[in-house]
Amino acid sequence: MASRKLLLLPGDGIGTEIAAEVEKLLAVLNEERSAGFETETALVGGAAYDAEGVPVSDATMALAQAADAVLFGAVGGPKWDGVAYDKRPEAGLLRLRKEMELFANLRPAICYPALAEASSLKRDLVEGLDILIVRELTGGVYFGEPKEIQDLGNGQKRAIDTQVYDTYEIERIARVAFDLARTRRNKVTSMEKRNVMVSGLYWNEVVTRIHKDEYADVALEHELADAGGMKLVKSPKIYDVIVTDNLFGDMLSDIAAMLTGSLGMLPSASLGAPDAATGKRKALYEPVHGSAPDIAGTGEANPLAMIASLAMGLRYSFEMLAEADALEAAIAETLEAGIRTGDIMAEGCTKVGTSAMGDAVAERFRAKLTA
Ligand code: IPM
Ligand code: MN
Repeated sequence: MASRKLLLLPGDGIGTEIAAEVEKLLAVLNEERSAGFETETALVGGAAYDAEGVPVSDATMALAQAADAVLFGAVGGPKWDGVAYDKRPEAGLLRLRKEMELFANLRPAICYPALAEASSLKRDLVEGLDILIVRELTGGVYFGEPKEIQDLGNGQKRAIDTQVYDTYEIERIARVAFDLARTRRNKVTSMEKRNVMVSGLYWNEVVTRIHKDEYADVALEHELADAGGMKLVKSPKIYDVIVTDNLFGDMLSDIAAMLTGSLGMLPSASLGAPDAATGKRKALYEPVHGSAPDIAGTGEANPLAMIASLAMGLRYSFEMLAEADALEAAIAETLEAGIRTGDIMAEGCTKVGTSAMGDAVAERFRAKLTA
Protein backbone atom coordinates (compact mmCIF):
# COMPACT_ATOMS: atom_id res chain seq x y z
CA MET A 1 0.00 0.00 0.00
CA ALA A 2 1.40 3.36 -1.03
CA SER A 3 1.94 5.79 1.77
CA ARG A 4 0.77 9.37 1.37
CA LYS A 5 1.81 11.76 4.08
CA LEU A 6 -0.55 14.56 5.01
CA LEU A 7 0.02 17.22 7.60
CA LEU A 8 -3.26 18.41 9.06
CA LEU A 9 -3.17 21.92 10.52
CA PRO A 10 -6.71 22.60 11.81
CA GLY A 11 -5.82 25.96 13.40
CA ASP A 12 -8.39 28.06 15.23
CA GLY A 13 -12.13 28.58 15.48
CA ILE A 14 -14.11 26.48 13.03
CA GLY A 15 -10.81 25.20 11.61
CA THR A 16 -10.79 22.29 14.06
CA GLU A 17 -14.43 21.43 13.30
CA ILE A 18 -14.08 21.36 9.51
CA ALA A 19 -10.76 19.49 9.68
CA ALA A 20 -12.51 16.65 11.49
CA GLU A 21 -14.82 16.21 8.47
CA VAL A 22 -11.87 15.85 6.12
CA GLU A 23 -10.58 12.98 8.24
CA LYS A 24 -13.81 11.09 7.55
CA LEU A 25 -13.18 11.36 3.81
CA LEU A 26 -9.57 10.25 4.16
CA ALA A 27 -10.83 7.20 6.03
CA VAL A 28 -13.16 6.43 3.12
CA LEU A 29 -10.24 6.72 0.68
CA ASN A 30 -8.09 4.42 2.79
CA GLU A 31 -10.88 1.85 3.16
CA GLU A 32 -12.17 1.84 -0.39
CA ARG A 33 -9.00 2.65 -2.34
CA SER A 34 -6.18 1.49 -0.05
CA ALA A 35 -4.98 5.05 -0.52
CA GLY A 36 -2.52 4.87 2.36
CA PHE A 37 -3.17 8.37 3.66
CA GLU A 38 -1.29 8.93 6.89
CA THR A 39 -2.11 12.11 8.75
CA GLU A 40 -0.13 13.88 11.34
CA THR A 41 -1.77 16.79 13.15
CA ALA A 42 -0.02 19.89 14.48
CA LEU A 43 -0.91 23.30 15.84
CA VAL A 44 -0.95 26.53 13.87
CA GLY A 45 -2.21 30.08 14.42
CA GLY A 46 -3.57 31.20 17.77
CA ALA A 47 -3.69 27.62 19.05
CA ALA A 48 0.04 27.27 18.38
CA TYR A 49 0.72 30.66 19.93
CA ASP A 50 -1.09 29.66 23.12
CA ALA A 51 0.67 26.28 23.42
CA GLU A 52 4.08 26.95 21.85
CA GLY A 53 4.51 30.74 21.94
CA VAL A 54 4.70 31.10 18.13
CA PRO A 55 2.02 30.88 15.42
CA VAL A 56 3.93 28.07 13.75
CA SER A 57 6.89 26.28 15.31
CA ASP A 58 10.09 25.20 13.54
CA ALA A 59 9.11 21.59 14.21
CA THR A 60 5.76 22.11 12.47
CA MET A 61 7.50 23.85 9.57
CA ALA A 62 9.74 20.79 9.19
CA LEU A 63 6.69 18.51 9.12
CA ALA A 64 5.07 20.74 6.50
CA GLN A 65 8.18 20.69 4.31
CA ALA A 66 8.37 16.90 4.53
CA ALA A 67 4.67 16.16 3.91
CA ASP A 68 3.26 15.29 0.49
CA ALA A 69 0.62 17.93 1.17
CA VAL A 70 -0.63 20.14 3.97
CA LEU A 71 -4.34 20.49 4.78
CA PHE A 72 -4.98 23.77 6.54
CA GLY A 73 -8.15 24.85 8.35
CA ALA A 74 -8.23 28.49 9.40
CA VAL A 75 -6.45 30.82 11.81
CA GLY A 76 -7.17 33.90 13.89
CA GLY A 77 -9.81 35.32 16.17
CA PRO A 78 -10.47 38.19 18.58
CA LYS A 79 -8.70 36.31 21.38
CA TRP A 80 -5.35 37.15 19.76
CA ASP A 81 -6.06 40.78 18.84
CA GLY A 82 -3.45 42.04 21.27
CA VAL A 83 -0.66 39.64 20.27
CA ALA A 84 2.59 41.14 18.90
CA TYR A 85 2.32 41.69 15.13
CA ASP A 86 4.97 39.10 14.21
CA LYS A 87 3.32 36.47 16.41
CA ARG A 88 -0.30 37.01 15.34
CA PRO A 89 -2.06 33.84 14.12
CA GLU A 90 -2.01 34.92 10.46
CA ALA A 91 1.80 35.12 10.60
CA GLY A 92 1.85 31.32 10.90
CA LEU A 93 0.03 30.91 7.60
CA LEU A 94 2.22 33.50 5.91
CA ARG A 95 5.37 31.74 7.09
CA LEU A 96 4.10 28.45 5.67
CA ARG A 97 3.34 30.07 2.31
CA LYS A 98 6.66 31.92 2.14
CA GLU A 99 9.04 29.19 3.33
CA MET A 100 7.33 26.46 1.30
CA GLU A 101 7.44 28.89 -1.68
CA LEU A 102 3.77 28.36 -2.46
CA PHE A 103 3.59 31.16 -5.01
CA ALA A 104 0.53 29.98 -6.93
CA ASN A 105 -2.83 30.14 -5.19
CA LEU A 106 -5.70 28.60 -7.17
CA ARG A 107 -9.15 29.69 -6.05
CA PRO A 108 -11.90 28.19 -8.20
CA ALA A 109 -15.32 29.79 -7.84
CA ILE A 110 -17.92 27.31 -9.02
CA CYS A 111 -21.61 27.85 -8.48
CA TYR A 112 -23.29 24.51 -7.83
CA PRO A 113 -26.70 24.51 -9.56
CA ALA A 114 -28.41 23.74 -6.26
CA LEU A 115 -26.94 26.90 -4.74
CA ALA A 116 -27.77 29.43 -7.44
CA GLU A 117 -30.50 30.80 -5.15
CA ALA A 118 -28.12 31.20 -2.21
CA SER A 119 -26.04 33.78 -4.05
CA SER A 120 -26.75 37.43 -3.37
CA LEU A 121 -26.83 37.86 -7.16
CA LYS A 122 -29.65 36.88 -9.48
CA ARG A 123 -29.74 33.24 -10.53
CA ASP A 124 -29.02 33.85 -14.23
CA LEU A 125 -25.86 35.82 -13.37
CA VAL A 126 -24.28 32.98 -11.36
CA GLU A 127 -25.86 29.75 -12.59
CA GLY A 128 -23.15 27.65 -14.19
CA LEU A 129 -20.41 30.01 -12.99
CA ASP A 130 -16.93 28.45 -13.23
CA ILE A 131 -14.06 30.87 -12.85
CA LEU A 132 -10.58 30.40 -11.48
CA ILE A 133 -8.69 33.10 -9.64
CA VAL A 134 -4.93 32.58 -9.78
CA ARG A 135 -3.53 34.69 -6.96
CA GLU A 136 0.20 35.37 -6.56
CA LEU A 137 0.88 34.29 -2.99
CA THR A 138 4.47 34.89 -1.89
CA GLY A 139 5.16 38.43 -3.04
CA GLY A 140 3.64 41.89 -3.27
CA VAL A 141 2.59 44.01 -0.34
CA TYR A 142 2.18 40.98 1.94
CA PHE A 143 5.93 40.46 2.13
CA GLY A 144 7.64 43.55 0.66
CA GLU A 145 10.22 45.39 2.78
CA PRO A 146 10.29 47.85 4.42
CA LYS A 147 7.19 46.96 6.37
CA GLU A 148 7.20 49.01 9.54
CA ILE A 149 5.86 51.87 11.59
CA GLN A 150 8.46 54.61 11.94
CA ASP A 151 8.45 57.24 14.65
CA LEU A 152 8.99 60.60 12.96
CA GLY A 153 9.81 62.20 16.31
CA ASN A 154 7.37 65.08 15.93
CA GLY A 155 4.35 63.32 17.36
CA GLN A 156 3.75 61.72 13.98
CA LYS A 157 4.39 58.17 12.88
CA ARG A 158 4.67 56.73 9.38
CA ALA A 159 3.29 53.31 8.50
CA ILE A 160 4.92 51.68 5.48
CA ASP A 161 4.00 48.59 3.47
CA THR A 162 5.88 47.93 0.26
CA GLN A 163 4.42 46.53 -2.93
CA VAL A 164 7.24 44.83 -4.80
CA TYR A 165 7.38 42.37 -7.71
CA ASP A 166 10.45 40.97 -9.46
CA THR A 167 10.33 39.81 -13.06
CA TYR A 168 10.52 36.09 -12.23
CA GLU A 169 7.61 36.30 -9.80
CA ILE A 170 5.29 37.74 -12.45
CA GLU A 171 6.56 35.36 -15.13
CA ARG A 172 5.94 32.21 -13.12
CA ILE A 173 2.44 33.14 -11.94
CA ALA A 174 1.52 34.20 -15.48
CA ARG A 175 2.64 30.79 -16.79
CA VAL A 176 0.51 29.00 -14.20
CA ALA A 177 -2.52 31.04 -15.29
CA PHE A 178 -1.94 30.46 -19.03
CA ASP A 179 -1.29 26.73 -18.54
CA LEU A 180 -4.53 26.35 -16.58
CA ALA A 181 -6.48 28.42 -19.10
CA ARG A 182 -5.45 25.93 -21.80
CA THR A 183 -7.22 23.19 -19.82
CA ARG A 184 -10.38 25.33 -19.51
CA ARG A 185 -11.92 27.98 -21.79
CA ASN A 186 -8.56 29.35 -22.91
CA LYS A 187 -8.92 32.89 -21.61
CA VAL A 188 -6.89 34.85 -19.05
CA THR A 189 -7.77 38.24 -17.58
CA SER A 190 -4.87 39.93 -15.82
CA MET A 191 -5.81 42.49 -13.16
CA GLU A 192 -3.62 45.23 -11.69
CA LYS A 193 -3.69 49.00 -11.09
CA ARG A 194 -1.25 50.24 -13.73
CA ASN A 195 -2.91 53.64 -13.60
CA VAL A 196 -1.55 54.31 -10.10
CA MET A 197 1.15 51.71 -9.37
CA VAL A 198 4.43 51.12 -11.20
CA SER A 199 4.25 47.51 -10.01
CA GLY A 200 0.95 47.31 -11.91
CA LEU A 201 2.56 48.81 -14.98
CA TYR A 202 5.37 46.26 -14.84
CA TRP A 203 2.98 43.37 -14.07
CA ASN A 204 1.05 44.27 -17.22
CA GLU A 205 4.25 44.45 -19.28
CA VAL A 206 5.56 41.05 -18.14
CA VAL A 207 2.22 39.25 -18.55
CA THR A 208 1.92 40.73 -22.05
CA ARG A 209 5.41 39.51 -22.99
CA ILE A 210 4.92 35.98 -21.64
CA HIS A 211 1.65 35.81 -23.54
CA LYS A 212 3.20 36.97 -26.82
CA ASP A 213 6.27 34.71 -26.53
CA GLU A 214 4.76 31.52 -25.11
CA TYR A 215 0.95 31.55 -25.06
CA ALA A 216 -0.29 33.43 -28.10
CA ASP A 217 -3.00 30.74 -28.53
CA VAL A 218 -4.66 31.83 -25.26
CA ALA A 219 -6.91 34.91 -25.21
CA LEU A 220 -5.53 37.60 -22.89
CA GLU A 221 -7.30 40.66 -21.54
CA HIS A 222 -6.07 43.27 -19.08
CA GLU A 223 -8.32 45.00 -16.63
CA LEU A 224 -7.82 47.50 -13.82
CA ALA A 225 -8.48 45.62 -10.59
CA ASP A 226 -11.22 47.99 -9.42
CA ALA A 227 -13.13 47.61 -12.68
CA GLY A 228 -12.54 43.87 -12.44
CA GLY A 229 -14.17 43.81 -9.01
CA MET A 230 -17.15 45.67 -10.42
CA LYS A 231 -17.52 43.26 -13.35
CA LEU A 232 -17.19 40.27 -11.04
CA VAL A 233 -20.51 41.23 -9.52
CA LYS A 234 -22.05 42.62 -12.72
CA SER A 235 -21.28 39.82 -15.16
CA PRO A 236 -19.02 37.21 -13.54
CA LYS A 237 -19.45 34.68 -16.33
CA ILE A 238 -17.35 36.76 -18.74
CA TYR A 239 -14.27 35.46 -16.91
CA ASP A 240 -12.38 32.19 -17.18
CA VAL A 241 -9.00 32.54 -15.45
CA ILE A 242 -8.17 35.74 -13.56
CA VAL A 243 -4.50 36.28 -12.67
CA THR A 244 -3.65 38.94 -10.15
CA ASP A 245 -1.32 39.91 -7.34
CA ASN A 246 -1.40 38.88 -3.69
CA LEU A 247 -3.54 41.70 -2.28
CA PHE A 248 -5.98 42.11 -5.18
CA GLY A 249 -6.29 38.34 -5.29
CA ASP A 250 -7.22 38.27 -1.62
CA MET A 251 -10.02 40.77 -2.15
CA LEU A 252 -11.28 39.53 -5.50
CA SER A 253 -11.47 35.94 -4.28
CA ASP A 254 -13.69 36.90 -1.33
CA ILE A 255 -15.99 38.61 -3.83
CA ALA A 256 -15.91 35.56 -6.09
CA ALA A 257 -16.69 33.34 -3.12
CA MET A 258 -19.96 35.12 -2.44
CA LEU A 259 -21.02 34.61 -6.07
CA THR A 260 -21.08 30.90 -5.29
CA GLY A 261 -23.56 31.35 -2.46
CA SER A 262 -21.35 31.48 0.60
CA LEU A 263 -17.78 32.10 1.67
CA GLY A 264 -18.14 28.60 3.11
CA MET A 265 -18.01 27.09 -0.39
CA LEU A 266 -14.67 28.22 -1.82
CA PRO A 267 -11.63 25.90 -1.68
CA SER A 268 -8.06 26.74 -2.60
CA ALA A 269 -4.77 25.14 -3.51
CA SER A 270 -1.43 26.82 -2.89
CA LEU A 271 1.30 25.28 -5.01
CA GLY A 272 5.06 25.65 -5.36
CA ALA A 273 7.18 25.06 -8.43
CA PRO A 274 7.64 21.43 -9.53
CA ASP A 275 10.78 19.93 -7.99
CA ALA A 276 13.51 19.60 -10.64
CA ALA A 277 14.23 15.95 -9.76
CA THR A 278 10.85 14.50 -8.76
CA GLY A 279 8.39 16.84 -10.50
CA LYS A 280 6.44 17.03 -7.24
CA ARG A 281 5.13 20.38 -6.04
CA LYS A 282 4.95 21.49 -2.43
CA ALA A 283 1.30 22.09 -1.69
CA LEU A 284 -1.09 23.41 0.91
CA TYR A 285 -4.86 23.15 0.61
CA GLU A 286 -7.17 25.44 2.54
CA PRO A 287 -10.64 26.93 2.42
CA VAL A 288 -10.77 30.61 1.44
CA HIS A 289 -12.91 31.48 4.47
CA GLY A 290 -11.48 32.29 7.89
CA SER A 291 -11.92 30.91 11.39
CA ALA A 292 -15.44 32.39 11.84
CA PRO A 293 -15.13 33.06 15.58
CA ASP A 294 -18.82 34.06 15.70
CA ILE A 295 -19.93 30.46 15.08
CA ALA A 296 -16.88 28.56 16.35
CA GLY A 297 -17.79 25.78 18.74
CA THR A 298 -21.46 25.71 17.74
CA GLY A 299 -21.06 22.81 15.27
CA GLU A 300 -22.81 24.88 12.59
CA ALA A 301 -19.89 25.61 10.28
CA ASN A 302 -20.04 24.64 6.62
CA PRO A 303 -17.25 22.09 5.96
CA LEU A 304 -17.71 22.07 2.16
CA ALA A 305 -14.89 24.49 1.29
CA MET A 306 -12.53 22.37 3.36
CA ILE A 307 -13.81 19.15 1.77
CA ALA A 308 -13.50 20.68 -1.71
CA SER A 309 -9.94 21.70 -0.79
CA LEU A 310 -9.20 18.02 -0.18
CA ALA A 311 -10.61 17.30 -3.64
CA MET A 312 -8.13 19.81 -5.05
CA GLY A 313 -5.39 17.99 -3.13
CA LEU A 314 -6.38 14.65 -4.65
CA ARG A 315 -6.17 16.27 -8.08
CA TYR A 316 -2.99 18.35 -7.80
CA SER A 317 -0.85 16.40 -5.31
CA PHE A 318 -1.90 12.76 -5.69
CA GLU A 319 -3.05 12.35 -9.28
CA MET A 320 -6.27 10.81 -7.95
CA LEU A 321 -8.39 12.48 -10.61
CA ALA A 322 -11.29 10.04 -10.53
CA GLU A 323 -11.48 10.30 -6.75
CA ALA A 324 -11.36 14.12 -6.94
CA ASP A 325 -14.23 14.08 -9.44
CA ALA A 326 -16.15 11.65 -7.22
CA LEU A 327 -15.70 13.85 -4.18
CA GLU A 328 -16.88 16.96 -6.03
CA ALA A 329 -19.84 15.02 -7.38
CA ALA A 330 -20.64 13.86 -3.84
CA ILE A 331 -20.71 17.50 -2.71
CA ALA A 332 -23.02 18.43 -5.59
CA GLU A 333 -25.36 15.51 -4.84
CA THR A 334 -25.49 16.37 -1.16
CA LEU A 335 -26.58 19.89 -2.08
CA GLU A 336 -29.10 18.60 -4.60
CA ALA A 337 -30.56 16.41 -1.84
CA GLY A 338 -31.36 19.66 -0.02
CA ILE A 339 -28.88 19.13 2.80
CA ARG A 340 -27.63 22.53 3.94
CA THR A 341 -25.65 24.20 6.66
CA GLY A 342 -27.03 27.49 7.98
CA ASP A 343 -25.02 29.74 5.65
CA ILE A 344 -26.57 28.19 2.53
CA MET A 345 -29.94 27.22 3.98
CA ALA A 346 -32.96 27.70 1.72
CA GLU A 347 -36.69 27.12 2.01
CA GLY A 348 -37.67 23.46 1.84
CA CYS A 349 -34.14 22.24 2.60
CA THR A 350 -32.89 20.31 5.63
CA LYS A 351 -30.63 22.26 7.94
CA VAL A 352 -27.73 20.25 9.34
CA GLY A 353 -24.55 20.92 11.30
CA THR A 354 -20.90 20.44 10.38
CA SER A 355 -20.70 16.78 11.29
CA ALA A 356 -23.93 15.72 9.58
CA MET A 357 -22.86 17.56 6.45
CA GLY A 358 -19.53 15.70 6.53
CA ASP A 359 -21.37 12.39 6.99
CA ALA A 360 -23.72 13.15 4.09
CA VAL A 361 -20.82 13.81 1.72
CA ALA A 362 -18.79 10.83 3.04
CA GLU A 363 -21.71 8.45 2.50
CA ARG A 364 -22.20 9.60 -1.11
CA PHE A 365 -18.45 9.58 -1.72
CA ARG A 366 -18.17 6.00 -0.51
CA ALA A 367 -21.11 4.96 -2.70
CA LYS A 368 -19.36 6.44 -5.74
CA LEU A 369 -16.07 4.70 -4.99
CA THR A 370 -17.74 1.34 -4.55
CA ALA A 371 -20.17 1.68 -7.48
C1 IPM B 1 -6.74 34.29 2.79
C2 IPM B 1 -6.70 34.94 4.14
C3 IPM B 1 -5.26 35.23 4.51
C4 IPM B 1 -4.74 36.22 3.51
C5 IPM B 1 -5.05 35.73 5.95
C6 IPM B 1 -5.65 34.77 6.97
C7 IPM B 1 -3.60 35.97 6.23
O1 IPM B 1 -7.51 36.06 4.16
O2 IPM B 1 -6.10 33.24 2.61
O3 IPM B 1 -7.42 34.80 1.90
O4 IPM B 1 -4.92 37.46 3.67
O5 IPM B 1 -4.11 35.78 2.55
MN1 MN C 1 -8.66 36.40 2.32
